[in-house]
Amino acid sequence: MTANIIDGKAIATAMRAEIAQNVRNMVEKGITPPGLAVILVGDDPASQIYVRNKKNDCIKVGFYTEEHLLPAVTSEEELKKLIIRLNQNPKIHGILLQLPLPAGLNEKAMLELIAPEKDVDCFHPLNVGNLFLGIPRFLPCTPAGVMEMLKYEKVNLQGKRAVVVGRSNIVGKPMALLLMNEHATVTICHSRTIDLPKITREADIVVVAIGKAKFLTEDMVSKGQIIIDVGQNRVGEKLVGDVDFDRVAQIVALITPVPGGVGPMTRAMLLKNTMQAERLARKG
Ligand code: GUN
Repeated sequence: MTANIIDGKAIATAMRAEIAQNVRNMVEKGITPPGLAVILVGDDPASQIYVRNKKNDCIKVGFYTEEHLLPAVTSEEELKKLIIRLNQNPKIHGILLQLPLPAGLNEKAMLELIAPEKDVDCFHPLNVGNLFLGIPRFLPCTPAGVMEMLKYEKVNLQGKRAVVVGRSNIVGKPMALLLMNEHATVTICHSRTIDLPKITREADIVVVAIGKAKFLTEDMVSKGQIIIDVGQNRVGEKLVGDVDFDRVAQIVALITPVPGGVGPMTRAMLLKNTMQAERLARKG
């Protein structure tokens, strides 16, 4: 059997169409469209592509957008000034500081400068804390995108065994939290986990987010599973996920491809968070 593929690209396109319609409705009522500022420091080629895609997404749905491309030699003081200026700009509802920052810039300190109400990545400690407490202002884009895909596929998570491979602050930890909120029984695995294949084989849902190309192999999965691949690894010119897709897809029930799986959903959730930021700014 070959697994069904969860088409993240198509789900994200449908979400963008809905957002674009909402923006048109806002404009008809004389409301200023949501605005997103994207900051890129340095010239990392992968980050340049991500930032360009995010800007183009904004344009497609009718958002106001500003792109701030700063040289790698930018000082913390200069970046700080820009963030503060954007915090105060009423046309800007969301601020995205593309990571990683060049060496010498303190990521944590810079992210904490972003006003929590404009932190559409949900990286600010205040927003992370609210998420942890179950009162989120925003949901982190990648885990929220995964949840949206599972919802679209009508996956009932209640009582299911979900295994998250990876414990990053951006994906692994919040992913576990969101799955737990939907009443899944969650296990987080990482580099020190003993007998990972046994644990992943026993899961109903496996989310892999460790950044190692084709890490999850056929011996680590079993029939009927749902496999979510968060990996975005560049192998030569190709984008390759954390799952050995061709072999794993022969065994499991549902799987996300790379590209065209989680990636487009992350971007769609960024738009959704920017809509949410605008709504909160207007209505409180
Ligand atoms: N770098 C890789 N993924 C992301 C993301 O989701 N947000 C930001 N700000 N930087 C990233």
